[in-house]
Amino acid sequence: MDMKRIRRPQQSPTGPGDLESDGGAPKPAADRKSGGRTLRFVLALVSFLMVLPLMVFVSGFHRNPSFDRLRQVTERGHFELNAGLEKEMVGSSKSQKAKVDKLLGGLLASGFDEHSCLSRYQSVLYRKSSSYLLSAYLMQRLRKYEEIHQKCSPSSELYNQTIDQLKAGAGKTSSAKCKYVVWISYSGLGNRILTLASTFLYALLTNRVLLVDRGVDMTDLFCEPFPRASWLLPLDFPLSRFTSFDIHSPNSFGNMLKNKVVINNNLSDDASHGSSPSFVYLHLAHDYSDHDKLFFCEDDHGPLEKIPWLFLRSDNYFVPSLFLIPGYQEELHQLFPKTDTVFHHLGRYLFHPTNKVWGLITRYYQAYLAQADERVGIQIRVFETKSGPFQHVLDQIFNCTMQHKLLPQVSKTENIITKLDKKTKAILLTSLSSGYSEMIRNMYLEHPAANGDVISVFQPSQEEHQQTEKQTHNMKAWAEMYLLSFTDVLVTSAWSTFGYVAQGLGGLKPWVLMKPENRTVPHPPCKLAMSMEPCFHAPPLYDCKAKVGADTGEMVPHVRHCEDMSWGLKLVDRDD
Ligand SMILES: *[C@@H]1O[C@H](CO)[C@@H](O)[C@H](O)[C@H]1NC(C)=O
Ligand SMILES: *[C@@H]1O[C@H](CO)[C@@H](O)[C@H](O)[C@H]1NC(C)=O
Ligand SMILES: *[C@@H]1O[C@H](CO)[C@@H](O)[C@H](O)[C@H]1NC(C)=O
Ligand SMILES: *[C@@H]1O[C@H](CO)[C@@H](O)[C@H](O)[C@H]1NC(C)=O
Repeated sequence: MDMKRIRRPQQSPTGPGDLESDGGAPKPAADRKSGGRTLRFVLALVSFLMVLPLMVFVSGFHRNPSFDRLRQVTERGHFELNAGLEKEMVGSSKSQKAKVDKLLGGLLASGFDEHSCLSRYQSVLYRKSSSYLLSAYLMQRLRKYEEIHQKCSPSSELYNQTIDQLKAGAGKTSSAKCKYVVWISYSGLGNRILTLASTFLYALLTNRVLLVDRGVDMTDLFCEPFPRASWLLPLDFPLSRFTSFDIHSPNSFGNMLKNKVVINNNLSDDASHGSSPSFVYLHLAHDYSDHDKLFFCEDDHGPLEKIPWLFLRSDNYFVPSLFLIPGYQEELHQLFPKTDTVFHHLGRYLFHPTNKVWGLITRYYQAYLAQADERVGIQIRVFETKSGPFQHVLDQIFNCTMQHKLLPQVSKTENIITKLDKKTKAILLTSLSSGYSEMIRNMYLEHPAANGDVISVFQPSQEEHQQTEKQTHNMKAWAEMYLLSFTDVLVTSAWSTFGYVAQGLGGLKPWVLMKPENRTVPHPPCKLAMSMEPCFHAPPLYDCKAKVGADTGEMVPHVRHCEDMSWGLKLVDRDD
């Protein structure tokens, strides 16, 4: 059992079995009614925190089961406060302490309007606090990034100057004070979250400003992550055709290299010579060419440094290959002394559900998950043409979860198993098909768990097939990823970016269900992941120095092949 989890004041169950897209989700602060709700939440929290020592004291006198439960709860809450905030303890009030922790130990910037994005500071109440060290250097670089972002934001004079350069086309580019990387909205939601984190890290490493193409639904899903300035590309951005850039675009880095277009004349500092394009398109999607892949080679990448505008399209978590670029290694090591925490920290920094999505998340959590002693997340993604459910997948889930004691066996011989201190386990299952949760729920209804535990099964939504950019579908998908990140134990499907996001945000090393071949249960059915980092599914397999094909999973100890995809790359801790 996890002793570090803080318990919330439990509210009465509300909401339907499915995540509905609307139905009274808290709205931004402007809405008076939800402002009241928020206030009630905050008040409930504050009074809960204040009452802690009293409840621990009182429980010494009253010994009935529910009070014992309460005592455990409060002691755990107390433990969390102490553990997270040792240094702040002396002479400061409890509410101040709660405030400090809300910034996730300095990962998040202060100074936001809390009501405009409740999840930013309330997530800490639902999720285990991170046990992974956050380097002071990362915090310092994030604050510096935020300054640059503000200075170069779309409402600044400097932005206007760079836009003028973009309009003018090729020119002398070394004078640009602000340089940008524009992330193009592309692919499914899980992939988008992974590529956005990758692009942000690239921006951090190259002192660029990240601007986000809002696509169809980015503003419905995510709050602004940076204080004082938007990350959204303005709607009147002059180069609108960037959204149709693809592998064939003559402006792509790969095609420019292939066609020997001069990307950056290295004499251009000298006023009389040379000119460079004002923008370059980086095609880093799964179908990218060998020329496009030279983005990850230091020497070829060099000329990009002075280009004011980069447009980047990807559906892959390309961070592992950034760790193979020698020029970034020292900086990356300082930012992430523990290599396998990149997405964990950047994800918690960047991705905050909007109030509408946060409403879905918190209502669902309070109705179905809050009361359980333990939460088990199971994320099922089946790469088959038919939607299922499949018997072999169900067998695989049982085989994995029982073998590793994540879920109890059932007793087929006894009808009733009585046990004094029953543990309640809530299974949160996410899948496009409803069949798996129904079958698991039935099994624990028809037979008792052999250890007497009480098992409940919840599935927020089922859509039968994946829809890439449908608005409410993605709000529910985002809510589900976020809910999975609140679990204590996580089981995910191989190749699932949805699972990668949940494990990274949650700081959870998942059990990965290996990909079934020929519709049979694989052996072993699952493996404990080496790290909580996502897998880069389409990495270059190339040695930039020797200019030959090479195994990039063998070059440094902290970049390895993934457990769920033999050719993919993922980050692991250096010491593993
Ligand atoms: C930037 O340009 C826009 C439109 O050209 C203009 O409205 C705005 O005032 C400019 N901003 C600054 C800070 O100069
Ligand atoms: C200019 O760039 C070319 C190719 O990128 C390189 O071979 C050459 O050494 C560079 N010249 C200088 C003066 O840096
Ligand atoms: C899982 O499958 C293996 C091989 O089929 C079997 O030996 C093992 O007993 C199964 N475990 C569970 C818990 O079902
Ligand atoms: C799957 O089945 C095909 C044809 O029956 C066979 O050739 C192949 O080896 C099988 N693959 C695995 C991993 O068992």
